[in-house]
Amino acid sequence: MIRFLYKKILKPLLFKLDAELVHDLFVSFGSFCGRTKLCRGIIKSIYGLKHPYPSITVDGITYKSPVMLAAGFDYNGRLATILDCVGFGGDEIGSVTARPCEGNEKPRLKRMIKSQSLIVYKGLKNDGVEEIINRLKKTRQPKDFIWGISIAKTNDSKSACKADGINDYCYSFKRLNEENIGDFYTINISCPNAHGGETFTTPQLLNELMEKIFTIKTKKPVYVKMPINLDFKEFNELMEVLNKYPVNGVVIGNLNKNYKEATFPEEAPPEYRGGLSGKTCQKRSTDLIRKTKETWGDRFTIIGCGGILTVEDALQKMEAGADLLQLISGMIFEGPHLMKDIAKAISHKKHLN
Ligand SMILES: Cc1cc2nc3c(=O)[nH]c(=O)nc-3n(C[C@H](O)[C@H](O)[C@H](O)COP(=O)(O)O)c2cc1C
Repeated sequence: MIRFLYKKILKPLLFKLDAELVHDLFVSFGSFCGRTKLCRGIIKSIYGLKHPYPSITVDGITYKSPVMLAAGFDYNGRLATILDCVGFGGDEIGSVTARPCEGNEKPRLKRMIKSQSLIVYKGLKNDGVEEIINRLKKTRQPKDFIWGISIAKTNDSKSACKADGINDYCYSFKRLNEENIGDFYTINISCPNAHGGETFTTPQLLNELMEKIFTIKTKKPVYVKMPINLDFKEFNELMEVLNKYPVNGVVIGNLNKNYKEATFPEEAPPEYRGGLSGKTCQKRSTDLIRKTKETWGDRFTIIGCGGILTVEDALQKMEAGADLLQLISGMIFEGPHLMKDIAKAISHKKHLN
C-alpha cells in the first residue's frame, strides 16, 4: 500500500516539480518531523526497522542497518534526527567545507526519469563546517544511529590551488575532531563539480593530501570517497597511496561523468553539466567494488554506493564485497520503503548463511 501510494500518487506529483525545490521541501519537512516526537513516531511506524535486525559492526561502529544516506542529500545536517525513522542506519552529512558555499549556479539538479539518474551540478552547497558543527552540537543524536561527516574543499577560487585546497580539507577535519562531532569521516576527493575539478585524484596529489590529513589526530574511522571514471589500474594506484596511511576504507563511489553510459543519454539537456547518479553509476561502482575486494581482501572497508535502486542491486553490491551501503537515487526513484526492504533482505540472507 505504502509503495503503491508513493509510486502511483506522490512520485508523479513530485516529479512535476523542480528537483531542487522538492529536495528543499523534503529537507524542511524532514527537519520539522525530526524535532517533533509525534511525527517521528508516525514515520517510524510506517518506515522504521521494527524487527530486531541483527546489527553489523564495522571499524568498531555498530550500525542498526548497513544502509546509509549518501553524502549530498543532507548536506547541512538538518535530517540528522529523522533518517533513523525511515530505515537508515546512518547519515553521511555534507559534504561540508571550511567556508560556507552557495554552490554552482542553477540549473544544477535534474531528473533523467527513464535513465533512473539525476544530473547533479550542486557544487558542494553547504553552510560551512562551523555552522554545521554548531547545529549538530545542539542536536540529540538518535540512539543506534550513525553520523558520518563527508569533508570536501570549499568550492571557490580561494581554495582552487593545491596548498589552499589541502588546508581547506585539514581545517574541517581538525575542527570536527576537536569538537568530537561525527562517528566517522569521509574525505571526498572526487566531487566532479567543484572549482578546479577533481584535484586530488592523482596518486601524487592524493599522497600530499593524505600526508597532511594524517598529521591531525583522530580516533574515528576515516574513509575516502573514490571517483568511478577511472580504469582499475588508475583506481588501484590511488588505493596503493591510501594503503600507506591509516585509511580505514573507501566509498565506491561518486557520480559518473560519462553521459554516454546513461540508458537514455538524450534525456540530458545540452545546457546541463555535472555528474550522473543512480542507474548510470551502478555497473562502474559494482565492478570497482569487486576488483577492490579481490585485490585488497579485508585491508579496506568498502562502502558500496551508486545505483542501488532495488533490493537485488543492494545484495549485488554486498556480494561484490561491500561491507556497508549508501544511496540517494533509489530513495527518490523507488520510495522511502526501499531502505527497510534492503535491511530485511540482508538480515534474511544472514539468517540463511
Ligand atoms: C543531489 C546530490 C548531491 C550530491 N552531493 C554530494 C556531495 O556533496 N558529496 C559527495 O561525496 N557526494 C555527493 N553526491 C554523490 C552521492 O553521494 C552518491 O555518490 C551518488 O549519488 C551515487 O549514489 P546513488 O546512485 O544512490 O544516488 C551527491 C549526489 C546527489 C544526487
